[in-house]
Amino acid sequence: MAEAEVGDDWFGDDPTVNRLQERAAEVTGKEAGLFVPSGTMANQIALRLQFSGPGHLVLAEPLSHVASTEVMSSAALSGIAFKTVHGDRRGRITADQVRAALEPDEPYDVEIADLVCLENTSGHAGGTVMDVEDFRAIRKVAEEAGVAVHLDGARIFNASAASGVDVAEYAAEVHTLMFCVSKGLGAPIGSLVCGSADQMREGRRIKILFGGAWRQAGVVAAAGLVALEEGPQRLAEDHERARRLADAVAEIVPGSLDPADVETNMVFADTEASMGMTPLEVANRLEDHGVGASVVSSKVRMVTHVDIADEDVDTAIAAWRAVSAG
Ligand SMILES: Cc1ncc(COP(=O)(O)O)c(C=O)c1O
Repeated sequence: MAEAEVGDDWFGDDPTVNRLQERAAEVTGKEAGLFVPSGTMANQIALRLQFSGPGHLVLAEPLSHVASTEVMSSAALSGIAFKTVHGDRRGRITADQVRAALEPDEPYDVEIADLVCLENTSGHAGGTVMDVEDFRAIRKVAEEAGVAVHLDGARIFNASAASGVDVAEYAAEVHTLMFCVSKGLGAPIGSLVCGSADQMREGRRIKILFGGAWRQAGVVAAAGLVALEEGPQRLAEDHERARRLADAVAEIVPGSLDPADVETNMVFADTEASMGMTPLEVANRLEDHGVGASVVSSKVRMVTHVDIADEDVDTAIAAWRAVSAG
């Protein structure tokens, strides 16, 4: 980062940003990429690009990041309202559900969706992986209805590491996707939107509109390049550590989770059901033992990533023992 060659990304002449965007396009098999500060901005640019205007809808799972955590940004920035399609307990929606949701609502003709938004892995449902066959089926149904598909692939590299399906294979089934070089890949900041060259040209305008034009962004893009080259091979280690943590928590607090549910780098524990304690209480007690955990979907959520080593998992397991004992 200190040695990054920089320019002015507002003018498109930061060589390190440009290299990262080209690399992101290569890895995803799309024509072009656009480097932006956050995953939220990346999603908001992709949604805005494919949304025709207020009064229309975007289809998404109700707990997906765009429809829950970012919902106010979509409404405020682009006038987007969501039509929600409930997934199964693993957050997955099917092509049949999408087909039904896209069916014209005759004779009223008020529910017109411009876009289907999918998330892989699903953050709220436990870092679960959606099959590429499901993407294929949903894309087919969406295309028959003349509707585009966007992938919130904040953690698509985790999905790829777990399923063995190349990121480009998922990307081929959607019109746009975004992924974060922050999160599991290990960069401090940054996300990329990928799509056609025309889309990314317009996406750059929207990035400026949303206040995301930055200047010598090569400083952070340099870390993004390292994350993209070195991060993906390392993710299997995070998944292994998450499984070890899940096995231990399931043993320490029976009924809190099923280790078989842990597909990638997230471990969710239901403490209400198993310990009679709110997830916030447990997260606070874990913090007293030096372990950071958050509360998501009314559960304690723990995430393994580049900064979590085997010893840290040992610390977390010891903290669970202490909290459960008393
Ligand atoms: C699935 C998903 N999409 C998008 C985002 C947004 O990323 P950021 O926090 O960089 O805005 C997150 C963040 O946690 C996420 O989990």
